[in-house]
Amino acid sequence: MSDLLWQKSGVKVDARIQQFLAGEDVVLDREFFLFDIDASRAHAQGLQRIGILSADELASLERELAALADDFRSGAFVLDDRFEDGHSAIEARLTERVGDAGRKIHTGRSRNDQVLVATRLWLKDRLARVAALCRESAQVALARAGAEAALPLPGYTHLQRAVVSSAGMWWAAWAEGFIDDAVRAGDTLAWVDANPLGSAAGYGVNLPLDRDHTTAALGFGRLQVSAAYAQLSRGKFEMAAIEALSSALLDLRRLAWDLSLFTSAEFGFVALPAEYTTGSSIMPNKRNPDVIELMRASYSAAAAARTEVEQLLSLPSGYHRDLQFSKGAIFHAFGRGLAALELLPDLLRNLEWRPDAMRAALEPSMYATDLAIDLAREGLPFREAYRQAADPARWAQVDPEASLAARVSPGAAAELRLDALQRRLQALG
Ligand code: ARG
Repeated sequence: MSDLLWQKSGVKVDARIQQFLAGEDVVLDREFFLFDIDASRAHAQGLQRIGILSADELASLERELAALADDFRSGAFVLDDRFEDGHSAIEARLTERVGDAGRKIHTGRSRNDQVLVATRLWLKDRLARVAALCRESAQVALARAGAEAALPLPGYTHLQRAVVSSAGMWWAAWAEGFIDDAVRAGDTLAWVDANPLGSAAGYGVNLPLDRDHTTAALGFGRLQVSAAYAQLSRGKFEMAAIEALSSALLDLRRLAWDLSLFTSAEFGFVALPAEYTTGSSIMPNKRNPDVIELMRASYSAAAAARTEVEQLLSLPSGYHRDLQFSKGAIFHAFGRGLAALELLPDLLRNLEWRPDAMRAALEPSMYATDLAIDLAREGLPFREAYRQAADPARWAQVDPEASLAARVSPGAAAELRLDALQRRLQALG
C-alpha cells in the first residue's frame, strides 16, 4: 500500500490492522470510482471559485481527472490494494501527475463527504435504472393485457381453483404493480437527490465553499443543507433506496412464483422460450426454469442488505467507520436486483400462453360466484343466492368467455381500464 493520506511520522502502521481497516474497500470503491472523480472535479471547480486554486491548477486537475477516468475505464488504471481506498487513490494519482495542485484538492473536504457524495450519485444512477426497467416491464405487461384481455385463465385463491380469470387480468396486475414500483423508485430518487459534498467531516469548514456550484455541477436537485445531517443521512438514504428496489423485487418474486407454477407440467399454462431454461446434469429429460428461480431469489439480497444497513445505523450522530459496511450491502442488493430486472421486460415479451391447458383447468365450480351474483341481481338476498349457488346441480354454465364478458366491475376482466394505467405510465415519461 502506498503512504496513507493521514500517516504521520512516528506512528507505527501494522499491516494486519491496515488490512482489517481497509477490508474489501478498494474493491468496493471501484463501483463508484467514476462518481468520485466527477465529484472531485466539481469540488476542484468550487475551490477555484473561492480562490483556493488558480485557473491553471483547476485546468490541470480537470485534465488529470479526465485521464484517470479514461484509464480506469480502459483498465490501464486498476484500483487495487496499493491504495487504502478509492479516495486516496484519486489524490495520490493527482499528486503524482500535477504536484501541488493535487496536494490542494482535499482542501475543505473530508473522505466523509467524499464517500457520501459518490454513494449518492451511485444511488441516483441505480434508482433511475430501477425506475426505467419497471416502466419498461409495465409497458410490456400493459400491451399484453390489451392483446390478451379475453384469454381465459383460472383464477386461484389459496392455490385452489376459485373463479374464471383472464390473461388480461393477470397482465394488468403486473402493469399496475410495476407502475407503482417505477413511481416509488422515482420518488425515492427525488428524495435522495441532495448534495452532501461540502459538509466535510460533518461540521463544515472555515471556508465559504461554493456548495451551490457543486450542487448544480453534479446535477443534484437540492443542497443537503445541514453538514451534520449529511452524515446522519448516510445509511438512511441507502435504506430508502433498497426499499424502493425491494418493492420492484417483491413484485418480481411473486410474478416469478406464478411462472414457476404455470410452467410446471401440473399447470402447463405457460411455455418459456428454451433460452430461459437449463438442462439437468443427470436427468436427460429435464428443462428447468432456473432464470425465473434466480429472479425470485433476488429479493433476498435486497432484504438482507436492508437489514445489514439498518443494523449499522445503531450509532450516535457523526461519522463512524461502521458506515463503511453499507457499501457492500447496496452493491449486493442492486447488483442482484438490477441483474434480475434487466431480464424481465424480455421475459414478459417472450412468454407464451398455452390456451388449451388454461381452458382445461376451468371447472364448473368456478362459475358459482357468477351464479350467486346473478341470482342476487334478480332480487334474491345474497346470502340466499349464495346458498342456492353452492349446489353443484346448478353449475351448468361453463362458458368462460361469457363469464369474463360479464365481469364489469372496474378493474375486472371486462373493465380493465387499461387507459387509466396507460395515462399513469405516460406521466412517468
Ligand atoms: N472507506 C470509508 C467509508 O466508506 C471512507 C471514509 C473514511 N473516513 C474516515 N474518517 N476514516 O466510510
